[in-house]
Parts: sequence; C-alpha cells; structure tokens
Amino acid sequence: MLDRLRQETREEHQSIEATLDLMSPALDLNRYLQILKSFHAAMAPLEKRIEERCPMQYRSLWEGRQKAARLRADLEWFGETADAERPADALVPRLSTASHWLGSIYVVEGSMLGGQVICRHLEKHFGWAERRGYLYFSGYGDQTRERWRQVTRTLEGDDLNGNLIVEGAHQTFQYLHCYFRVSL
Ligand code: HEM
Repeated sequence: MLDRLRQETREEHQSIEATLDLMSPALDLNRYLQILKSFHAAMAPLEKRIEERCPMQYRSLWEGRQKAARLRADLEWFGETADAERPADALVPRLSTASHWLGSIYVVEGSMLGGQVICRHLEKHFGWAERRGYLYFSGYGDQTRERWRQVTRTLEGDDLNGNLIVEGAHQTFQYLHCYFRVSL
C-alpha cells in the first residue's frame, strides 16, 4: 500500500514541493511567513475535518497529531497572526470513508518526514535553533520515525480499500496544492 501511495502521488508531491520552494537559497523571512500563513489557513480546516471524520478505530492513531497550533505558535514567535483567508468548507476533502481518511493521514503525516529535511535547512539557512519559529516543520523531532511507523503499520495492516486510500491521498494533495497555488 505504501509503495503504491508513494508512486501514485509522486507527481503531486513534486508539484507541491516546487510551489513551496522552501529549500531555495533565496528563501527570505517574508516568504517563509507567507508559507506559514498559507499552511495554517489550509491545515486548520483540514485537521478539523480529519477530527470530525476520524473513525472510532483510529482515534488513538490520530491522538497528539494536530499541528495547526504549532503554526500559530511559529507565527506568534515572529509577532504575526494567522490571518490568511481560509479555503471554503466545500473545498476541504470530505473524507467520507475510513479509507479516504487514512489516505489523508498518509499525506499530512508523511509531510512530517519532509519536515525533518526542511527543518535542518531552516536552521542552516536562517541560523535558527531550538525549534523557535519552525515548530511545525520540526515535526515530532526524534519521535518522527516511530510516529510514521504507526501510520504505515495501519496502512499496511488493515483490510481497507486501496483505491479509496489513494483517492483520499489525491484529494488531500490536490486540496493543499490548489490553495498554495492561489495564496502564494
Ligand atoms: C518544500 C517542501 C517539501 C519538501 C522539501 C519535502 C521533502 C520530502 C522528503 C525529503 C521526503 C522523504 C523523507 C524520508 O523518507 O525520510 C518527503 C516525504 C513525504 N512528503 Fe514531502 N516535502 C515537502 C512538502 C510536502 C508537503 C506540503 C506535503 C503534503 C502536505 C508532503 C508530503 C509528503 C509525504 C506524504 C511523504 C512520504 C512519502 C513516503 O514515504 O511515502 N511533503 N518529503
């Protein structure tokens, strides 16, 4: 399942990475703050949907994974507020089945892996330390791999509909990318 997700969403990942361009040597604070605001505007309603649609059997998997508050804390560190306009509710993936829900979890939790790379870049590029201003991208720190394993074990282990998992992942990538494209 994981290989399939990785392959079938590869292009979407590449596109979103290119739109954000976070690893650019030209990244400045202004652009970084815009990215944080856009992430917050897109992630807050998505996390709300994930929360509302969380199937009973995955409550413990989702526990402690909400990250919108980290984005607000990062913005506050720079004296900024999360004031970007949020996408309309109708655009947020509906996550109508447990399989769609897991596909969405693959995207938002997988992004924490990339966050480890981004976080090291931010430290080098801006000279930042101790996760101040980049709490979101620093993910779960040294717990990141273990928390990711919990997700992949669930994706591989449960008797779910693979097509719908992939559909949920596509919907989530597309929702985020559409919003980033118009807001950044
Ligand atoms: C400039 C921005 C980004 C960069 C540089 C980046 C980079 C990376 C890297 C290096 C990995 C592999 C990490 C590893 O296996 O140790 C990864 C994985 C992943 N990233 Fe990103 N990423 C970015 C943005 C995003 C965004 C915005 C999302 C979605 C919200 C995302 C979703 C994922 C997923 C789902 C995986 C897991 C792939 C898998 O192993 O199946 N990434 N990313």
